Amino acid sequence: MRNDAGSGKLRVILSGACLVTASMLLLVLLVGAEPEPSLFHVPQRVVLSWTDDPARTQAVTWRTEKPVDGPRAQIAAMSGNPGLEKTAVVVQGLGGVIEVGAGEIAGHYEARFENLTPGTAYAYRVGDGVTWSPWYHFQTAAAQAEPFRFLYFGDAQNNIASLCSRVFQTAFRHAPDARFLLHAGDLVNDGYDDRAWGEWCAALGFISAWIPSMAVAGNHDWHQAPGTTQSPTGPMIDPLWRMHLALPLNGPEEAPNLEETTYYFDYQGVRIVCLDSNLYAHDKLDPRLLESISTRKEQWLRETLQSNPHPWTIVVHHHPIYSVGKDRDNSRLRDALLPIYDEYGVDLVLQGHDHYYARSHKLRGGEIVAADAPGTIYVVSVSGPKMYSLNRKFEYLMAVLRGETQMFQIIDVEPGRLAFKAYSVTGELVDAFELHRNASGETALKNLLPAE
Ligand SMILES: [Fe+2]
Repeated sequence: MRNDAGSGKLRVILSGACLVTASMLLLVLLVGAEPEPSLFHVPQRVVLSWTDDPARTQAVTWRTEKPVDGPRAQIAAMSGNPGLEKTAVVVQGLGGVIEVGAGEIAGHYEARFENLTPGTAYAYRVGDGVTWSPWYHFQTAAAQAEPFRFLYFGDAQNNIASLCSRVFQTAFRHAPDARFLLHAGDLVNDGYDDRAWGEWCAALGFISAWIPSMAVAGNHDWHQAPGTTQSPTGPMIDPLWRMHLALPLNGPEEAPNLEETTYYFDYQGVRIVCLDSNLYAHDKLDPRLLESISTRKEQWLRETLQSNPHPWTIVVHHHPIYSVGKDRDNSRLRDALLPIYDEYGVDLVLQGHDHYYARSHKLRGGEIVAADAPGTIYVVSVSGPKMYSLNRKFEYLMAVLRGETQMFQIIDVEPGRLAFKAYSVTGELVDAFELHRNASGETALKNLLPAE
């Protein structure tokens, strides 16, 4: 993992933090007042994620209505004893000021817990030493392959507070022991809109402070604020993405456009590769720039799949290889990535963008293969309320289709079995299948719904 001290993100936020610290110090010297808890400094939007190994680290981001002096976190061994603070270790927060529109500024911070013990529960809180969040809990991953489950969500995007919230909350009620939430892009409708991020965090509520969120960027997450100009190196993800989600910097080298949008992480026997698919769908980008970034990304993808020491491989990106929404077809994405998925035996590809639920048969080279032949399962899903009509072009490749329905998915992983269940927001089981892996590493698909 590269040292991110040189990234633009931290340069910006650290300079902000220094300014705030100096001004607050001056205020205390002049007035001589002891700081008191402030409603403006109450941590909001507390979101767990990972920048590094989930077995030994944990990252957390949060926001305050007004910038604070000395952002920090405390972490303690899990205990039922409420005196957590007595044994807590303080971790300095990074961060500073961000403009959130109309001349308003807010504080945005990030803390990283490191050198943690695998398979261990911790309690933590964030704040500034005076005003604190509640104490929350999280658990590190085991250091080896062990059964676990996670939740996968398609696009939240619209009416997030009013209508996507019920999906997040129902999913949590079905799988409170999920180890992470995987968001397949278009988390919000306009990536530069701070209010939309506020809705997304409000829809998740306390869940985001207990269960880490990992995400790939969709086309709406890349929306530029009106009146702003594009970076000379091509489109860059909005700073608000990087403020709310602290993600790994282990993507392709020399590709600043892909920082914290293309990366991988390993969790108890599965490698999850998160790819930014936006460049393949970007028509206005200089073809030479697209070629340069794509080549590096595809080389990185090959190396990341080749070096996977785990039994399972899951790839996540926003745009689908086989589109099922409207009249879409992401042929450039398919031409670039499908041969790589086939070559390296990717088990499952999780996608969004088409505002429909679709799960393919086992596919290889664009064709349906036998249940026990080498191949990949492709899924598209949607969590928010925006719905599209079915594009029938690839209908023949799909085993299960469901439109006009807000969905969530629970995926159970163990070394020899991957069990996938898709639910509607009402709790109806819409789709269920399993992949069974034998001692030779070959997988067999078993459809549970519709039953074989
Ligand atoms: Fe999209």
